[in-house]
Amino acid sequence: MLLHCTDDGPGPVVVLLHGFPLDHTMWDAQRGRIGSVYRVLCPDLRGHGQSPLGDDGASVDAMADDVLETLDHLGLSGPVVLGGLSMGGYVALSIAARHPERLRGLMLINTRSAADTPETARVREGLAQIVESSGQVDPVVGTMLPKLLAPGTAAARPDLAQATSAVMKATAPASVAACLRGLATRPDRTADLSGITLPTLVIAGEHDQLIPRSESEQMARALPHGELVVIPDAGHLAPLENPEATNAAILKYLGSLG
Ligand code: MLT
Repeated sequence: MLLHCTDDGPGPVVVLLHGFPLDHTMWDAQRGRIGSVYRVLCPDLRGHGQSPLGDDGASVDAMADDVLETLDHLGLSGPVVLGGLSMGGYVALSIAARHPERLRGLMLINTRSAADTPETARVREGLAQIVESSGQVDPVVGTMLPKLLAPGTAAARPDLAQATSAVMKATAPASVAACLRGLATRPDRTADLSGITLPTLVIAGEHDQLIPRSESEQMARALPHGELVVIPDAGHLAPLENPEATNAAILKYLGSLG
């Protein structure tokens, strides 16, 4: 499926994949700063933002195939730098594992390689059923939003919490339910990490309530060329909560790729 995709800037291509249930707007601060030096593409993954859901579910591998199809459509079949936050990171890992020839760099941002635990998968299925029966995404937003931002961020920047909530609430109930199931059934990519030979930037949020720091550290260690950067004053949405530090880490990494 072809995805809606923003396309800014000159130079080598950097593709950024958003988290669940967000859209390309979560990268606005990166599009501005990084897009002044690199060509930054930010797709809306299926069922999010301005991209359709389609009729064959929303598995992480299907989302990954959509990204590659969209890049092909844009004439970008050569290797790109790919970054993904949380769900976007699961999609990026799917591409790194299945189509490594499409990448020349990888950024795993506030994300993990592990699959859902059975308990997490069960909670997601319960939420999917509530969203479907109520036709409302509010139960998901209410469950997730307090965990996305660092506690300090929500208090200091209610505008950011409000804007994030608005994007989440704009995601269609059918998309949210399909993605919850896609997330719950994604494969564990931990065993693939040792085979990823690309220089890989792992970004963690100092106060991420969803991904423990130890998990990001383990992931960086398991990658042959992994480097971990911890973003201060940020939770699970580091690029939104601390764009200056996140952009600095990304630009340093991109510069190191030559
Ligand atoms: C995200 O930010 O994309 C979600 O937290 C991913 C997830 O729930 O596993």
